Amino acid sequence: MADTLYIVNLKHYRNAVGRSFRSFMESMGRFRHVENVVFAIPHVNFPDAHAMDGFRFFAQDIDPSGFGAYTGSVSMDVAMEYGISGTLLNHSERRVSDERIASVVQRAASLSFDVVLCARDAEEVRRFSSLNCRYIAYEPPELIGGNISVSTARPEVIRQAVEIARASGKSLLVGAGIKSRGDVEKSIDLGASGILVASGVVLANSPPDALSSLIV
Ligand code: G3P
Repeated sequence: MADTLYIVNLKHYRNAVGRSFRSFMESMGRFRHVENVVFAIPHVNFPDAHAMDGFRFFAQDIDPSGFGAYTGSVSMDVAMEYGISGTLLNHSERRVSDERIASVVQRAASLSFDVVLCARDAEEVRRFSSLNCRYIAYEPPELIGGNISVSTARPEVIRQAVEIARASGKSLLVGAGIKSRGDVEKSIDLGASGILVASGVVLANSPPDALSSLIV
């Protein structure tokens, strides 16, 4: 079985992004060259990320456009120049249209750029399962940022989502409210291939220790 994937979403937390990004990532030094740990970062920190060796970075969102006359865009092409190898897409805090999802997924596939397509329920997992992306992430919005984990509150939905994703050859990740190793273990037992976590790591007293404590 492949290693469980851990995606740490830095969101836009003050202690982890912008001018704090470099010191935050320095504190995460023990996760350099750890292939199954990925940090999802805002595009403003792409150049900083590029200057830091050994981490795996995804964007938090991306545009489908390439280089050209696209004012305000953040393209995969630019992200890749900075060593960013994938992106979250359609996160609950950054929902996008179905049309945009389809364009990003299509372009990403042609560039071998990983997409973690976020879904808020089993119905969305089903709807997205026909798209050509590697991961679908189930995150119930009402549990995001809270203390009750998706694996505790929605085990049946996870089971269902895992089946739907597997049937179309995708890996199902889960996120929302994950704070403990038990939450991660339960997610894996239910069939998840990995987890997404934000507040439980980024806002912890010691983010690196909090992340270490989740790794099974
Ligand atoms: O993308 C992960 C995120 O939405 C989960 O947030 O704070 O519940 O771990 P959190």
